[in-house]
Amino acid sequence: MAIIFSEQTREFHLFNHQISYIMKVLPNGQMGNLYYGKKIKHKNNYSYLLEGGHRSLAVYCEENEYFFSPQYTRMEYPCTGMGDFREPAFELLQENGSRITNFQYQSHIIYKGKNRLSGLPALYVEDEDEAETIEITLTDSLLKVDCILQYSIFRDYPVIARSVKFYNHGNEKVTLDRVLSASIDLPDAEYEMIQLSGAWARERDVICRKLNVGVQGINSRRGISSAEQNPFIALKRPETNEFSGEAIGFSLIYSGNHMESVEVDTCNMSRIQIGIHPEGFSWLLKPEESFQSPEAVLVYSDQGMNGMSQTFHRIYRSRLVRGLWRDRERPILINNWEATGPQFTERQVLDIASTAKKMGIELFVLDDGWFGKRDDDKSGLGDWYVTDYDKLPEGIEGLAKKINAMGMDFGLWFEPEMINKDSDLFREHSDWILSAPGRKASPSRNQYVLDFTSEKVVEYIYNLMERVLMNAPITYVKWDMNRYLSEVYSTAHKAGEQGKVFHKYILGVYRLYELLIEKFPEVLFESCSSGGARFDPGMLYYAPQTWTSDNTDAIERIKIQYGTSFVYPLSSIGAHVSEVPNQQVGRVTPLETRGNVAQFGMLGYELDLQRLTERERQIIKEQVEFHKKYRKLIMSGDFYRLQNPFEGKAGAWMVVSQDKNEAFVGFYKILSIANEEWIRLKLTGLDENKRYILDEDESEWFGGDELMHAGMVICKEDLCGRGRDFSSRIYRLKSCMGQEG
Ligand code: DGJ
Repeated sequence: MAIIFSEQTREFHLFNHQISYIMKVLPNGQMGNLYYGKKIKHKNNYSYLLEGGHRSLAVYCEENEYFFSPQYTRMEYPCTGMGDFREPAFELLQENGSRITNFQYQSHIIYKGKNRLSGLPALYVEDEDEAETIEITLTDSLLKVDCILQYSIFRDYPVIARSVKFYNHGNEKVTLDRVLSASIDLPDAEYEMIQLSGAWARERDVICRKLNVGVQGINSRRGISSAEQNPFIALKRPETNEFSGEAIGFSLIYSGNHMESVEVDTCNMSRIQIGIHPEGFSWLLKPEESFQSPEAVLVYSDQGMNGMSQTFHRIYRSRLVRGLWRDRERPILINNWEATGPQFTERQVLDIASTAKKMGIELFVLDDGWFGKRDDDKSGLGDWYVTDYDKLPEGIEGLAKKINAMGMDFGLWFEPEMINKDSDLFREHSDWILSAPGRKASPSRNQYVLDFTSEKVVEYIYNLMERVLMNAPITYVKWDMNRYLSEVYSTAHKAGEQGKVFHKYILGVYRLYELLIEKFPEVLFESCSSGGARFDPGMLYYAPQTWTSDNTDAIERIKIQYGTSFVYPLSSIGAHVSEVPNQQVGRVTPLETRGNVAQFGMLGYELDLQRLTERERQIIKEQVEFHKKYRKLIMSGDFYRLQNPFEGKAGAWMVVSQDKNEAFVGFYKILSIANEEWIRLKLTGLDENKRYILDEDESEWFGGDELMHAGMVICKEDLCGRGRDFSSRIYRLKSCMGQEG
């Protein structure tokens, strides 16, 4: 890995053993991109990759000079004005009303390692040899504003992390109306764009479309990353499949408004952009103030979509997720929400917990309903203390101790960012919500959004949460967030600074997380937003796992977890077994299949175990044992998608340990078909030269090559449900002595 600057050609080459990223100072002093893709050997001069020449209607930089026109050049961080008519990466409004800028190369520094981004989540290194960083300072000399382009390249991953910082050294105030984290121009447009789109309870569908001339993209303007559009897109070549071909993933480490777009111009160049959505964003930058953008992560793969996903998994689980729980085995939990809703008695939850304990479940999580006046969603949010002693006679402390006495850990639900009008907090501080002066704030789930741009609001909520966490033995917090932001106006800010509110809101959320994890490093946080409406890399920096979806139907979950796996590691995917008929879709699926899906995530249960039969309890016991045995592998193994459930017949995936000695495969039949074809499932990721036994049956072995090239025969009689609708099976593979010749 290295970052080389060639003085003579003013070119920068960032490379490791897998990728190259080459930039150049252009004839007008701005930065351009020469190449991004598979590693190429270093040379000092790649200037031939900067194509130019005369074209009618083109705008040039100098009179009588017809080589370099920004419109036909691959710009690195394009501005408005100056003749590049495509989407800019930033816009800077000046006091005279102009948005025209000219940021030219000034200097750069290269250093080992990677700095953290203050107040923002970002990839990190543990050792400075893991990455190298370059910061290129561009200056607009008229305004005396710097734009610092930051790039880190990782030694062990085909990954570049990019962000941008603006610094106002001038005397006038400027306003940033758009600051994207990355913009990159690629020389052609022969790509398909993949996005993860959805809605509540059907998050992260995989959508693929061919690029076309014009701007295509996705965004969230909902204040959080959203269930509708995940902050991610990928470009893949038409021939790229799961295991071969080129793909580039773009992921934003951010939880607020975002946009991802690809503009294809009429000369077939593609401009990919990712960052904070510019709508509603306008950041006043006074003299000597700076603004730091969130970080975008670019992953290159020449091994298909799986190759891209595995890189995201590896780097996110080891260099984004932090803290004690990063590598610790996660507890198997039981959550009372689907069993009781907010109206529960202590007896009920203790019974659920004690039955769960008998099945080997390790953590009991008390969901919504324990605080303030809270029997439904109309009241209580904001009052993070117990007032209803009929429900909890000895408060949270008493309940937690009783749960601990059973030999289980105790976890608790909060929704820190929200408030009901019927709450002590609202009665005392009705001005603490986001709402426009003189106008009604719109409710959603009968709740309103606290103004987290205000430090005193964040501090107040912190103090309430701190008290609860200090007073009871709580080892897990489920941090929920159940509405989008509508009237985004903060009375804590002046009129001219309202454009900061969306972003500062998210910074406030990050701040509260940071305060809590600093004070309670032992607590495992799971983020949640009506299920998976804020499943993004920003959250993973604070909360190692996320509640993936409120939809716990096994068949829907195969799709949701499949889509989620495009970017997010299994160690981040909260996956629970719930009752049937399923509360969201009414479907009845075998308990085994519900377990077989949830095993490919961080396992939990969300049902009243007492209502189950003895046989069902036995099945759960076995699922729990299985998870305990394999959870290390689930958290650290390589995940492969084998069969796309969106295609309708079946879904299949597998996890393989790093040493390729152990693996397990999940196969899920969706609808049964009469007199159907034989099913042959080709595995992947195994060692061609190793022998494997199946399900600990030592009487027969299979070569890794056999399983991958000839495939594994799926016999429908072997599936739970014997091949009927929703039947499934997990196959375990273990290497055994002997090498294939
Ligand atoms: C939405 C979450 O996704 C559910 O799991 C549950 O915690 C409810 N909120 C509680 O209000």
